[in-house]
Amino acid sequence: MNPKGNAKLTLADGKTVDLPVYSGTHGPDVIDIRKLYAQTGMFTYDPGFMSTSSCNSTITFIDGDKGELLYRGYPIEQLATKCDFMDTCHLLLYGDLPDAAQKKDFVGRVTNHTMVHEQMQFFLRGFRRDAHPMAVMTGLVGALSAFYPDSINLHDARQRDISAIRLIAKMPTLVAMAYKYTIGQPINYPRNDLGYSANFMRMMFAVPAAEYKVNEVLVRALDRIFILHADHEQNASTSTVRLCASSGTNPFAAIAAGVACLWGPAHGGANEAALGMLADIQRDGGVAKIGEFITRVKDKNSTVRLMGFGHRVYKNHDPRATLMRETCHEVLNELGLHDDPTFKLAMALEKIALEDEYFVSRKLYPNVDFYSGIVQKAIGIPVPLFTAIFALARTVGWIAQLNEMIADPEYKIGRPRQLYVGAARRDIVKK
Ligand code: SDX
Repeated sequence: MNPKGNAKLTLADGKTVDLPVYSGTHGPDVIDIRKLYAQTGMFTYDPGFMSTSSCNSTITFIDGDKGELLYRGYPIEQLATKCDFMDTCHLLLYGDLPDAAQKKDFVGRVTNHTMVHEQMQFFLRGFRRDAHPMAVMTGLVGALSAFYPDSINLHDARQRDISAIRLIAKMPTLVAMAYKYTIGQPINYPRNDLGYSANFMRMMFAVPAAEYKVNEVLVRALDRIFILHADHEQNASTSTVRLCASSGTNPFAAIAAGVACLWGPAHGGANEAALGMLADIQRDGGVAKIGEFITRVKDKNSTVRLMGFGHRVYKNHDPRATLMRETCHEVLNELGLHDDPTFKLAMALEKIALEDEYFVSRKLYPNVDFYSGIVQKAIGIPVPLFTAIFALARTVGWIAQLNEMIADPEYKIGRPRQLYVGAARRDIVKK
């Protein structure tokens, strides 16, 4: 990267420091502060990284003001309507959409890695039947690192590629295993004659007592959910994966760290929390009680938030929420649920919130999580499994970001500093 110029920093003592400024393809310029401490003896201070870019990346671009999301330059609206999740995985991992031959090869490689070691079932049995699926997934994904000693060296590009294929291929199998275990049904093995999303639906819902019939509308909806959740720049879980992998640990352990971070209700856990919020409003009286709920949300003394609304980057509509809303209509119509009370309540809540000054002034719009839970519930996915589905989809983005970091010659182990405000140096006084 060549600097476009310098930013001049003038310190309290009048000393000035020139800091290089870089421009990207899109988005804000950056000020390179890597030498700031050496030149000034001072750190920057940015809890929550509101104004900090942690890396340069070629993978995903978000324009929060325009409500734009690009994967490798392609708008999410085009990918979600013209491509499938396997196209999107190839694009995120290798930088471009696959041609027919590349797609056949890629899908073939993923298909042939969908099974997991039989011992994984015994690891699963260590959990209580009512364990949260994200607790199970954090354990199972981390456990994968014990089964593939031939692909844990992060600094070997071939091993990074095979572990990428293994993780993308095995996440659906592990999520379905976690689900079947909690409901006491036998685990289904993957089938090589089914596409990625159809295979997952069958592993989730097939039972030995009956033939499983794939519903193409539901499979397409799930495939779109995977596309919309595949990557999202340097969000909390992706930053976790990058920081974890920067120590040189193996890809499975780094992705397990991403799963753990995504679980939080402020992040990937928001879709489960949004459904819980809608259920609470429904129970308290439904649409007639929305006003009271909104009042509680606006009350500074309450910790109630409108789950599925707001975003650190989007200060306009989250383009994924718009696409997810369309998918909602398609799925509910396909299932004859267009009068679904939860969906109708969500639409009413969205309309009221978007007209309320509190949300308008804070640029709080529905994010991807607001509608994804309703679609998943309509498809038959249990609420506690929503975030595990999010993790399944985001695995390819985490891996692409991890690989990009490791392949960057400038990368080094991440180690932020701090502003220390604790006790001054003192000696122990024997009492
Ligand atoms: C995801 O980063 C990503 O890209 C994440 C993600 C991805 O794909 O990886 O997009 C996925 O995590 C989507 C976000 C899912 N989370 C939720 O839906 C949970 C509800 N949303 C909030 O918790 C919140 O909006 C965040 C965490 C998403 C963003 O918070 P910020 O940017 O730190 O904003 P903030 O908390 O500083 O809020 C600014 C103001 C505050 O009010 P004031 O103190 O200024 O008066 O907006 C208010 C907040 O109280 N606010 C909300 C609100 N979100 C922010 N008020 C009510 N309901 C909300 N949802």
